[in-house]
Amino acid sequence: MQIINNWFNFETPERVAQAVCDDILLQAEQAISTRGRFKMVLAGGSSPAMLYQLLSQYKVDWSKWYIFYGDERCLPPDHPDRNSVMAQQAWLNHVDIPANQIFTIAAELEPKSAAVQYQQQITPFLPFDLVLLGMGEDGHTASLFPGHTHKAEEVVHVVTHSPKPPPERISLSARTLSTTQRLIFMVTGASKQSAVNQWQAGEALPVTAIAPEAGVEIYIDNAALDL
Ligand code: 6PG
Repeated sequence: MQIINNWFNFETPERVAQAVCDDILLQAEQAISTRGRFKMVLAGGSSPAMLYQLLSQYKVDWSKWYIFYGDERCLPPDHPDRNSVMAQQAWLNHVDIPANQIFTIAAELEPKSAAVQYQQQITPFLPFDLVLLGMGEDGHTASLFPGHTHKAEEVVHVVTHSPKPPPERISLSARTLSTTQRLIFMVTGASKQSAVNQWQAGEALPVTAIAPEAGVEIYIDNAALDL
């Protein structure tokens, strides 16, 4: 299947964040009006913090939002390096999404148990409405890293020996991340240029394994495009 990449370039990370924020709010409104709820998978790392802070400032009907995570680091629930802690501090602690509609990966548990539990939690909600992803300097996304192999049929992976600390993580599989109406990558900063060039040259990277039917949208700033 040919993956359709739609690239949307903005001058700054702030403009990327605002554009993605506007798109998410519009898609949520459409999903809620047609299907009664909006199911969104959050990206980890640091780039999405600006977007999450923007989202926290809007007065919308949060009661119909359902939040999931693309991956989580195997750390205690309140550890500052947890993706869930970043999202809570920037956004989720400031809006009224019902707690039973926020599905945090229990990555503090024994990893295999955490993966099995998360698979059971998310399966009834597939397909997602929106999956948000970042990209690392090596072209990784979520906790899917170059050179790592996983059973393709898995819904949720246990990741060990992650090159980006911490070594152990829980990650949705490429197939699960692709099970979505819409997929947006947010890529900002000069450190991503090399991976972006490889991506645009058609080289195989973890990001290129993400292949939803509708294709992917890449929101990218000038720095990452070396403009
Ligand atoms: C993680 C993220 C990871 C992240 C990229 C980009 O848990 O680390 O899921 O895939 O999205 O590494 O990270 P930055 O946004 O910090 O550059």
